[in-house]
Amino acid sequence: MSKATELGEKFRLPDTATDLYRMGYGAMQLAGPGVWGPPRDVDAAIAVLREAVAMGVNHIDTSDFYGPHVTNQIIKKALHPYPAALVIVTKLGARRGPDKSWIPALSHQELIEGAHDNLRNLSLDQLDIVNLRVGGVLEPSEGSIEEPLTALAELKRRGLIRHIGLSNVTPRQLEEAQKITEIVCIQNFYNVARRADDAFIDSLSKQGIAYVPFFPLGGFTPLQSSELDRVAASLQATPMQVALAWLLHRSPNILLIPGTSSTKHLRENLSAAALELPSHAIDALAGIALSAPPLAQPAH
Ligand SMILES: NC(=O)c1ccc[n+]([C@@H]2O[C@H](COP(=O)([O-])OP(=O)(O)OC[C@H]3O[C@@H](n4cnc5c(N)ncnc54)[C@H](OP(=O)(O)O)[C@@H]3O)[C@@H](O)[C@H]2O)c1
Repeated sequence: MSKATELGEKFRLPDTATDLYRMGYGAMQLAGPGVWGPPRDVDAAIAVLREAVAMGVNHIDTSDFYGPHVTNQIIKKALHPYPAALVIVTKLGARRGPDKSWIPALSHQELIEGAHDNLRNLSLDQLDIVNLRVGGVLEPSEGSIEEPLTALAELKRRGLIRHIGLSNVTPRQLEEAQKITEIVCIQNFYNVARRADDAFIDSLSKQGIAYVPFFPLGGFTPLQSSELDRVAASLQATPMQVALAWLLHRSPNILLIPGTSSTKHLRENLSAAALELPSHAIDALAGIALSAPPLAQPAH
C-alpha cells in the first residue's frame, strides 16, 4: 500500500500492477429510478462522473444491467477516451426482465453476451475487472460456482477480461474459485451497521484480496442512526462521512464505491478519505442500531 493524495491510500490488487485508491465511486445511482432507464438529468450524471475523475478517482464500479446499458453508456459519454489509470469494474451474472426484475444470467452464452455488451457499451477492448455476481438478492447462497466461473476464466484467457472478482459469495465459494482462476476482489453487502462478513474480511486481508462492500452507505435507504449522528456531530463531519471513514478504518483491504447522483454528495463522500476516527468514535459505533430499514429495493 502507498500513501497518496486527498483520496488517501492506494491498494495494490494481488499479483497485478493495478493500484486503486481505497476511495472510489459506484455508478449504479446514475440510472433512472429503480436502476431502470435513463436518469432524470443525464448532464448531471455526466457531471458527477467527470467530477469524480477530476478529483482523482481511479476506480469506478458499474454493470451493464444498470439501466440496462444506460449507466455504461453514460460512463462512455462522460469519460471516453478513458484516463490511463482509470479502472472500470463491471459485473456479469444477471440481466433485467421487462418488468424491471433482476434475473440470474449465468449460462455460458449469457456470460459471453454480457461481456460483449459491456465491451461495446463502454467502448473497451478489454474489461479491467469483472465480478461474477451470484447468490440471492442480498445474501450469498452456498452452491458451486464452477460452471460460470470457468466461462469467465475462458474469457480472461481470450483477453476479453484482465482480472476476475466475485460478488455475493461465501468463503467456501472463494476457495472453490481459487482452484479455477485468480480472484482479485470480493464485492459483498457490508457496512457499519451490517457486519456479517467480519471474519471473511479478515481472511481476505491476510490473502491481500480487496473487499469492496456494496451498499457502504446502506443502499437505497441510506443509513440512519443516532450513534452515527452523534459521532458525526462530535467530529464536525456528516453521518455518511463517518460511515465511510469507519469502513476505511475497519481493514486495509477495504476499497469503497459509495454511490451518488449528486456532485455535492460525491465531494462529501470523497473527503471522508481524510477523516480519521478517534478510538472513542470507533467504540461508539460498536453497537450501532439502525433507525430505518437498510433496504427499500432489490439490489444487484
Ligand atoms: N454487487 C452487487 O450486488 C451490488 C449491489 C448493489 C450495489 N452495488 C455497487 O455498489 C455501489 C454502491 O451502492 P449504492 O450506490 O447502491 O449504495 P450506497 O453507496 O450505500 O448508497 C447510495 C445512496 O446513498 C445516497 N447518498 C450518497 N452519498 C450521500 C451523502 N453524502 N449524503 C446523503 N446521502 C448520500 C445516494 O443518494 P444521492 O444520489 O442523492 O446521493 C443513494 O441513495 C453501486 O453504485 C454499485 O456499483 C453492487
